[in-house]
Amino acid sequence: MSSFTGKPSQEKMAAFCGKNILDISSLSREQLETIMQTAAYYDAKLEKHELLHDMEGKIMASLFFEPSTRTRLSFESAMQRLGGKVITVTETPTMQTSSTAKGETMYDAIRVINYYCDVIACRSPIKGVRLEIDRAATVPYINGGDGSGEHPTQALLDIYSIYKEKGGLDGWTYAICGDLKYGRAPHSLLDALAKFKVKKIILASPKELRMPEENIAKIKADMGVEIEECFDLDYAAKNADVIYMTRVQRERFSSQEEYERNKNLFIMTKRHVDMFVKDAIVLHPLPRVNEIAVEVDDYPGAAYFRQAGNGLPTRMALLALVTGSVK
Ligand code: NCD
Repeated sequence: MSSFTGKPSQEKMAAFCGKNILDISSLSREQLETIMQTAAYYDAKLEKHELLHDMEGKIMASLFFEPSTRTRLSFESAMQRLGGKVITVTETPTMQTSSTAKGETMYDAIRVINYYCDVIACRSPIKGVRLEIDRAATVPYINGGDGSGEHPTQALLDIYSIYKEKGGLDGWTYAICGDLKYGRAPHSLLDALAKFKVKKIILASPKELRMPEENIAKIKADMGVEIEECFDLDYAAKNADVIYMTRVQRERFSSQEEYERNKNLFIMTKRHVDMFVKDAIVLHPLPRVNEIAVEVDDYPGAAYFRQAGNGLPTRMALLALVTGSVK
């Protein structure tokens, strides 16, 4: 992968126009690169504080039915940075303001919301709801996370971060660590990495929180990438060029006991940093609970805050591509 300069070709961008972004597995490597190139294009404009009008006159519906800081704010900031406007529903089971509280299905809600906007970004606690929204949406829909299912925009900003930090994605050993069972970010990242010529992917988790077999089978079937499972963070720390840490997803556990048994098993400290291979980087989708000790933040390769910043140009790229607005 050479470094990105300028915009992708019209032809490559046109392939996204009107498209829903549901998951990563339905995108090709070339499409992932088109998104990253568009992100790099907007990144350069952000750096120069350019005032953009690419999405002037357009409205994004920001529908968040689960807590979110980075994903929602970076989507909304992305739309506004592109000159567009935002309408919002944010609610959780204990704070409901829309008609889902009255029992409206997501399908019906989207059938209506289509009339009010040009693009939809939506997060829901329900795994697989992306398929229901996909059927209902007549404007482009971008999945902002569906329960423990998929989180494609996170994986896209993750690979864009790896590109920026390491100069490319091919040839590295990756370790995806932590709650690989319930974490949607690891599910989508695994799909994304499998599209590149990676050296190896280490899946490191507590025994009870392994990557689901179906996720591994899916990528092995089409890519034949080398996967190694382990239950030991030290091994991951010693062997990977890119170490992706994740939070134990408390809200998705079926019992408090299961959470208590697993919550403190994978904690990265300075001791791990001392084992790293040269120029290793540490990523994390955030929020962090206790799985990366604060002392690790001083390591120059601790890239998780920069990574969260990359959510902005990545989501600008997605919004502009699916609405055919890149100017
Ligand atoms: C992730 C998510 O919501 O799945 N966060 C995010 O979008 N940045 C990871 C997490 O909540 O642990």
